[in-house]
Amino acid sequence: MKKGVIAIAIMVAFAVAMMMGSGAIAQTTKSGDVKDVIEIKDPLFGKHTKSAVTFSHKKHSVDYKLKCDTCHHVYKDGKNVWKEGDKVEMCSACHKSPKKNEGKVLSLYNAFHKNCKDCHKEMKKGPTKCNECHPK
Ligand code: HEC
Ligand code: HEC
Ligand code: HEC
Ligand code: HEC
Repeated sequence: MKKGVIAIAIMVAFAVAMMMGSGAIAQTTKSGDVKDVIEIKDPLFGKHTKSAVTFSHKKHSVDYKLKCDTCHHVYKDGKNVWKEGDKVEMCSACHKSPKKNEGKVLSLYNAFHKNCKDCHKEMKKGPTKCNECHPK
């Protein structure tokens, strides 16, 4: 009995120490682990002219209750066939052109701005001005 209590106390202390020790706690999803907060700075843009964008994946997907497939997709015959549990690729894996659209596929610049800004505009919530996402 006593042994069990001690073992539990050690386990709890260990768990607390782990949580305090790691800054970027990962959010566990059916599609793999994601950082709670992602600093978006995609190498595809090359030399950046604006500061990196701080995106709270956890707030968006958990607190704001947005469905995964509002942001993640794999299109087949014009339909999004991605579902929770499927792997997630970087946006730049498919939106491969930095600034110019390639046919139906938006450039990475337009893909990010359309996804992020359009939703904030539609919901009348969240930042829409340049310096609210890019402090510099
Ligand atoms: C509001 C938009 C949004 C929502 C909602 C969202 N995500 Fe994400 N997710 C992103 C963005 C943006 C990235 C970073 C992509 C990049 O940098 O190219 C990302 C990254 C990820 C990654 C990491 C991919 C990697 O290789 O590092 C996983 C896994 C993931 N998301 C799963 C999910 C799951 C599962 C859900 C639903 C529970 C979800 N996401 C909801 C926007 C979103
Ligand atoms: C597996 C490839 C792939 C990945 C990964 C991907 N996209 Fe796309 N995306 C496409 C294709 C292809 C289209 C065009 C679909 C069509 O119109 O038939 C598209 C369309 C879009 C559109 C316009 C239609 C819409 O859904 O509003 C936006 C915005 C967009 N993507 C943003 C993103 C963002 C942001 C990410 C990363 C979180 C991302 N995409 C990841 C392939 C991808
Ligand atoms: C489908 C809708 C949707 C999409 C897509 C979306 N957001 Fe948001 N965003 C929200 C909502 C809702 C809020 C909450 C605003 C509030 O409650 O004040 C928010 C708030 C924010 C905030 C301020 C508060 C916080 O969570 O830090 C930032 C910064 C932000 N979003 C960045 C982004 C970026 C960057 C992207 C694209 C990668 C993005 N958002 C995509 C809906 C969205
Ligand atoms: C809702 C958030 C949001 C708003 C508002 C926003 N952006 Fe962005 N922007 C992003 C995201 C996310 C990326 C991808 C970040 C990266 O990879 O560096 C990006 C990328 C960029 C890039 C390419 C990367 C670089 O640093 O050169 C430029 C340029 C840019 N934005 C300019 C602007 C300008 C100008 C405005 C205002 C008209 C603006 N953005 C408004 C989210 C936003």
